[in-house]
Amino acid sequence: MGDDDGAGTLTVTDNRTGRSYELPLVHGAIRASDLRQITTGPDDRGLLSYDPGFLNTASCESAITYVDGERGILRYRGYPIEELAERATFLEVAYLLLNGELPDAAQLRDWTAEIVHHTFVHENVKKFIDGFHYDAHPMGIMVSTVAALSTFYPEAKDPVSSAVRRRQIVRLIAKMPTLAAFAYRHSAGLPYAYPDSDLSYTGNFLSMLQKRTDTRYRPNPVLEHALDVLFILHADHEQNCSTTTMRGVGSSHADPYSAMAAATAALYGPLHGGANEQVLRMLTTIGSVENIPDYIARVKRGEFRLMGFGHRVYKSLDPRARIIRRVAEEVFEVTGRNRLLDIAVELQRIALEDDYFLSHRLYPNVDFYSGIIYQAMGFPVDMFPVLFAIGRTPGWLAQWEEGILDPAQKISRPRQLYVGSGVRHLDAPETAVAS
Ligand code: CMC
Repeated sequence: MGDDDGAGTLTVTDNRTGRSYELPLVHGAIRASDLRQITTGPDDRGLLSYDPGFLNTASCESAITYVDGERGILRYRGYPIEELAERATFLEVAYLLLNGELPDAAQLRDWTAEIVHHTFVHENVKKFIDGFHYDAHPMGIMVSTVAALSTFYPEAKDPVSSAVRRRQIVRLIAKMPTLAAFAYRHSAGLPYAYPDSDLSYTGNFLSMLQKRTDTRYRPNPVLEHALDVLFILHADHEQNCSTTTMRGVGSSHADPYSAMAAATAALYGPLHGGANEQVLRMLTTIGSVENIPDYIARVKRGEFRLMGFGHRVYKSLDPRARIIRRVAEEVFEVTGRNRLLDIAVELQRIALEDDYFLSHRLYPNVDFYSGIIYQAMGFPVDMFPVLFAIGRTPGWLAQWEEGILDPAQKISRPRQLYVGSGVRHLDAPETAVAS
């Protein structure tokens, strides 16, 4: 994009008053606050824009991730997701998102060493994970333990300091797999396995999950690579629900652990990062290919949604879903074919020939196939959103830091259209309160 791309002005005529206003355009957008000058008289506080769910509101300028939902394009810092998934590692992508450039060999060595150094968590963290019930959802454990980390690093309360920010960013990226693995082992009734600094980021995570009595765990390289690609695909997705939460909480200058706990909670929802879990449950409920037409008919009657389909931004195939299909085949070479894949492929085929899905522009999203891979790799269903959270961590942190550094950002505080009752008084007969 050129510097003056999307510049110009917009002339707005208020038909209530007949007055016209010229509003400047920057990057093809008006500033919503420029609407405030449009009033009908002295008692009018100015025009607001109404946009529940931010369907058409840019909440920030960002140089991190570019999504073109019409053409199915996703780029991190300008690099196409397909190239990064093919040729970079997750830690390189994390560095790219945070720093704007891919690391050279020396930078990657230092970055990896820094992350490895911080993978351990304080021993007390184990104690409060122990306090959770045996069947606690690991995402619930993640939300709580990420928040609790803030109490271990009181310095994090100064997000304006770049050195402080950097230390917490490294800690969070390093410790997320450890917390996730501990949450899993707690629910499985297994002793916690400590990080192994000789393994890759993803290999170490697999080790902490799966290590039993072996002195040294050796991850299967195909599965290690597949999980690394899945982390890359989830690493950022511009202003989605959880990232908006991260930026919103960050805008009050809360520490990044508290902000990321809130982002993790937002991701937990079935319409967002919890969708991969719901897709698996849905495919299991469908059970076999013959039951698909009936299931689709019920979706069309509005009884429930087809999980893993649809996206606020993508109105064509999610490019991540295309890459995941390929990764799935590689994983199944090792694990054997997940029989749910046949149901998923047929479901996709039928849905994409159906007028309801075509007219609503509903296509498979990233979550449609990811769960099938995770299940084949042996992850329990309720770990799926946790895997999403590990992948999304560098994106959340890059977006949080960009928000903190952006002089245009203020504390997040939308307006509302008040539609409640007018003034009324406690001593009116119908509302009198008992003393
Ligand atoms: N199945 C059936 N109908 C759907 C679906 C679906 N998955 N998604 C949207 N629709 C329909 C919806 O009923 C509505 O129809 P109508 O206009 O006739 O009332 C129309 O499409 C628009 O829906 P919307 O809720 O206004 O769209 P949205 O942009 O607010 O929602 C979404 C986006 C992802 C929440 C939604 O598509 C959905 O609920 N999908 C299923 C959950 C899912 O897979 N989520 C993962 C998203 S990708 C990973 C991530 O970023 O978290």
